[in-house]
Amino acid sequence: MTYIVKDECIKCKLMDCVEVCPVDCFYEGENMLVISPEECIDCGVCEPECPVEAIVPDSEYQGAELEKWLDLNTKYSNIWPNITEVGESPADAKEWDGVPNKLEEHFSDKPGKGS
Ligand code: SF4
Ligand code: F3S
Repeated sequence: MTYIVKDECIKCKLMDCVEVCPVDCFYEGENMLVISPEECIDCGVCEPECPVEAIVPDSEYQGAELEKWLDLNTKYSNIWPNITEVGESPADAKEWDGVPNKLEEHFSDKPGKGS
């Protein structure tokens, strides 16, 4: 069991989640964060902190959909830098809240700066 970040995070990247994680298992991409499923202790503290509801427990998904989000979080948490301090969110984050198809159209595989 782990929590996972979904594409609602893309281009919102509000980072309220980073502050509360007791094991610092968030990793930073250019325009979204992911959780390391290997490090997450499944405490659930981050879920209500995300203003755009991008964080969910993996138990909410099954089959191909579960694999898609789990793979994304696993892959990029092994590539992107760890983030432990809240940084600046994009100035236009609000405009991206609720935009559909973010994974297909707006995902960046580039790393963020980390902290
Ligand atoms: Fe961190 Fe807990 Fe969220 Fe996992 S569920 S990412 S341990 S705050
Ligand atoms: Fe993303 Fe929500 Fe965290 S928008 S950076 S998962 S608070």
